[in-house]
Amino acid sequence: MKIFVLSLWLVLILVLPAQAKQPLPPLHHPVGIKFPADMQAPAGFPLGKQKQLVCDTCHGIKNLDQIPLQKVNQQAKNFLRNGPYPNLLDFCQNCHQSRLKQKNMQRFNVHQMLDKQGRLIKSNCTYCHASLPDPKKDKDWHKMRFQIPPEKLCYGCHLKTTHLNAVQHQVKPSHKVLKQIRQTEKQKHLHLPLNKQGKMMCITCHTAHQHNVLTMAKQATPLGKIEYGKPNFWSRVYAEDKKARLKQGTYKGLTAPVYQPIKHEILLRLPARNGELCRACHVFQD
Ligand code: HEC
Ligand code: HEC
Ligand code: HEC
Ligand code: HEC
Ligand code: HEC
Ligand code: HEC
Repeated sequence: MKIFVLSLWLVLILVLPAQAKQPLPPLHHPVGIKFPADMQAPAGFPLGKQKQLVCDTCHGIKNLDQIPLQKVNQQAKNFLRNGPYPNLLDFCQNCHQSRLKQKNMQRFNVHQMLDKQGRLIKSNCTYCHASLPDPKKDKDWHKMRFQIPPEKLCYGCHLKTTHLNAVQHQVKPSHKVLKQIRQTEKQKHLHLPLNKQGKMMCITCHTAHQHNVLTMAKQATPLGKIEYGKPNFWSRVYAEDKKARLKQGTYKGLTAPVYQPIKHEILLRLPARNGELCRACHVFQD
């Protein structure tokens, strides 16, 4: 509680004097920030002395900051500069044009590693790698350095508990499983990386790399969206199996998700929908 009150004061002290004489509505666009280098202020949108956003930049009403909020005429044609705008986004596009359509309004997909010409987008690589790798030369990932340990690379963008069984698979494999892993690696000419402590990670099953970035054997299926099909006969088997298990221990009270077959999978080292991935480590008896 104390920390909360303290930070509230800090916010008030730091933010208020920098803004107008009266506080702006809570969800208002930030004011006082400068245009970054890769963004253009459109002609006819005046900036402040330090090239920062001021009321005048966006609003055509004179001395807007001196008018009490309730008395501002939002219906005035020039309330938003060069308005009125039938669609508010059209106003935003004056400045955010290129960015709106691309990065800014979407989640940054770091796995999209090739541009339209099929060239590597190098800035994506150094999001994870400490230096730019060369797919033709750098074949041994043990020699590579990363921004943070490889077992943590996915967190922040994805949850640890992103799907069933993800957490249960962050363990050190038993001898039996390890033997199976090594055998699969040899047979299928790929690798199922373990961390320095010999534990599994997200990237044991997944690859972070888009199709065609790395050499053939380590490729994943092409990017796209994961698609799930309609529940099938397996869904009933799955439901029966889970019913019994969910009565026990820590799972008590949970409901199992409905099983849906994967139609299109991405970023996996081996296909999962035919069981190949699971069989890379698990031996099933018929
Ligand atoms: C980057 C552009 C931008 C800047 C700079 C800007 N505004 Fe705004 N302002 C907007 C937009 C967009 C709206 C919302 C219009 C809507 O929702 O229809 C708005 C709405 C308002 C409103 C109406 C709020 C409401 O919804 O009740 C007031 C008052 C206002 N701005 C005052 C100011 C003042 C004062 C400044 C300078 C300190 C300022 N604005 C700077 C873009 C800007
Ligand atoms: C006059 C130019 C201008 C207009 C018009 C404008 N913006 Fe901005 N906006 C900026 C600038 C400059 C920044 C700061 C960008 C940066 O630092 O990367 C910004 C930043 C933002 C941010 C990031 C804010 C943050 O806290 O990081 C969002 C979201 C945004 N604008 C949305 C909008 C929306 C939505 C509209 C339309 C309602 C709009 N902008 C209209 C200039 C404008
Ligand atoms: C989200 C994190 C992430 C991003 C982004 C990323 N990598 Fe990697 N990269 C890894 C990890 C983890 C490994 C080690 C395990 C493996 O092979 O997947 C690796 C391994 C490699 C290897 C070693 C070869 C191999 O098969 O193990 C090469 C070459 C490589 N990356 C190239 C690239 C290039 C080029 C880019 C940019 C286009 C890139 N990486 C972007 C995480 C990433
Ligand atoms: C910078 C953020 C970022 C990082 C780091 C990152 N991802 Fe992603 N990942 C995304 C985005 C964005 C998508 C596209 C789907 C979405 O919007 O959820 C995605 C999609 C995926 C998908 C496909 C899911 C789908 O619904 O399309 C998998 C699997 C995946 N990531 C695994 C990983 C793994 C494993 C790592 C760590 C090596 C990792 N990601 C690191 C942002 C990230
Ligand atoms: C035992 C193997 C395995 C491990 C370990 C694993 N995953 Fe997955 N993951 C899968 C399979 C199989 C799928 C479903 C098919 C696909 O990705 O195409 C999947 C799907 C995903 C998706 C897409 C989920 C969706 O429903 O859209 C994301 C995101 C993801 N994994 C991230 C992670 C992260 C982050 C970790 C580490 C905490 C992780 N995975 C660990 C096997 C694994
Ligand atoms: C890279 C190796 C690897 C892959 C691939 C893999 N597993 Fe596992 N799995 C393990 C290890 C290691 C354990 C921990 C138990 C052990 O060592 O025998 C485990 C445990 C499990 C468990 C028991 C979890 C618990 O609650 O204790 C289930 C269920 C399971 N795996 C299912 C799957 C399925 C389904 C797939 C395919 C989508 C799969 N695994 C892919 C290595 C793997």
